This record gives sequence, structure tokens and C-alpha cells, in this order.
Amino acid sequence: MKIAIGNDHAAVAMKFDIMEYIRSLNHEVTDYGTDTEESCDYPEYGEKVARAVASGEADCGVLICGTGVGISIAANKIKGIRAAVCSDCATARLVREHNNANILAFGARIVGGELARDIVKAYLDAEFLGGKHQRRIDMIRELEEKE
Ligand code: RB5
Repeated sequence: MKIAIGNDHAAVAMKFDIMEYIRSLNHEVTDYGTDTEESCDYPEYGEKVARAVASGEADCGVLICGTGVGISIAANKIKGIRAAVCSDCATARLVREHNNANILAFGARIVGGELARDIVKAYLDAEFLGGKHQRRIDMIRELEEKE
């Protein structure tokens, strides 16, 4: 899979570790920044990754900030994006199986390095189950259309 990754200043070291891990799982990963610890604004990177996913440039995305929350809220403003914050492996698997989340988000200040890798693997290994879950995603898309 082609994966877009982005982060703010709170998650630079974790982003590089996760990029290396994603490559070790034989996926392609493109870095949308930021690559320095200089204070920056997470909506900028949330938007970059969200647009890469929404346009089909990437199959899915990974976003990391301090908590995973701000950057996922920003990404979710882009049409077609379902970004989910996960702090455990079961949630990371379920957001793919049930919600077909196209962006995984987590917090570098919340989860440790080893757990972050396991969360990424749980998300990437899972598959959308379709069926009734597709109906619910269609309902979410309708909400988006109504706005
Ligand atoms: C940056 O200090 C911090 O606010 C950001 O990384 C994130 O946690 C926001 O949701």
C-alpha cells in the first residue's frame, strides 16, 4: 500500500521510527512533514495528508501529533476523510474493519514507541468488512453532502 504520513513538532522522532517500521512491512510511505522540532501548526500537516488520501495519491494515511486529536480533527474537515485516533491495537483494527478509516492517528505524548508500532500494524493488517458497515459509512457521507 501507499501510505502518506504527517505530524507536528511533537512527533518528529516517532514519525521517523514509524516510517522505518512501515517500510519493514513492505509498504511505501511518503513523508508530508514536518521534519523539525520547531513549533508548527498541526492543521497544516493534517490537511496535507488528508488531501493526499482524498485524491487517491495515497491509499491511506498516518497522522501523529501530541495527542493525535488536533491533527485528526483537521484531517476530518477534508471531504471523504475518516481519520480515527487510536491508543490501542483493538481500536486500530476495528476502525478499519467497521469504519473503513482511511487515516490512522495517534499521540506521540500518549503512546510509547512499541505500542505505536503495534497500533500501526493492527491497522494496516485489518480489512474493511463491508455489509452493514458500508451502509453506515454511506450515511456519514450523506451527512457530509448535507453540510
Ligand atoms: C502541540 O503542542 C499539541 O497541541 C499538538 O501536538 C496536539 O496534541 C494537538 O492536538
